Amino acid sequence: MNEGRRSRSTEAFFGRRRGKSIRPQQAVALGEGLAGYGLDLGKAAPADLRSMFAADVSDVRLEIGFGGGEHLRHEAARFPSTGFIGVEPFVNSMAKMMSAVAENPLANLRVYDDDATRLLDWLPDASLAGIDLLYPDPWPKRKHWKRRFVSSVNLDRFARVLKPGGQFRFASDIDTYVNWTLLHCAAHGALEWQAGDAADWRKPYEGWPGTRYEAKALRENRIPAYLTFRRV
Ligand SMILES: C[S@@+](CC[C@H](N)C(=O)[O-])C[C@H]1O[C@@H](n2cnc3c(N)ncnc32)[C@H](O)[C@@H]1O
Repeated sequence: MNEGRRSRSTEAFFGRRRGKSIRPQQAVALGEGLAGYGLDLGKAAPADLRSMFAADVSDVRLEIGFGGGEHLRHEAARFPSTGFIGVEPFVNSMAKMMSAVAENPLANLRVYDDDATRLLDWLPDASLAGIDLLYPDPWPKRKHWKRRFVSSVNLDRFARVLKPGGQFRFASDIDTYVNWTLLHCAAHGALEWQAGDAADWRKPYEGWPGTRYEAKALRENRIPAYLTFRRV
């Protein structure tokens, strides 16, 4: 990990970029997929993000750290007139996603293959209808909590790019991270928790397809929480 990445990441990125080597066919899908779906942050973001999509979309949502991409593909297929930006720096996951969209193209998808904080800083103010952070790296040890994606700096970023009324959804199976996120959002002030009753945060989101990481958590008997905050 280079120093540039590390220092930025006090705000954020501490993960691995690469796992086992990818198969030649996946490498082709990755290259071709990023050429078509990838965002170039070297250019200024369009004032109207909707213009970045091949499909005619009315709103734009962001998913940070999509992993296997199950949820992102599911949502993009379910809401064809919403544009989706998916961010995933782990090369093997991006290769998997690009192979999947080579088979089943999505005209309402764009992706970014590096640290989500860079993408967030590139986006115009009040440009997103929603941000999903689903099972972010948990960093369960107290000495690593500062590496968690949820931080006051990143909540500032969320608050800047979310439209008023936009949603920030956070799912995790790690109780200390759920508490951490509730406390950080309460302290931040611009993101209001939308819990109707105590059972609410144990209920998956409407239409929830699950994710690979969640399936592992459930197998290991950890109970997920699904939080929704609204940009005030
Ligand atoms: C525990 S996995 C969960 C993946 C997926 N959301 C799921 O539920 O199966 C967390 C993911 O976040 C990604 N990630 C970590 N730091 C990130 C960052 N700064 N920006 C974007 N993605 C990040 C990792 O590469 C990893 O794929």
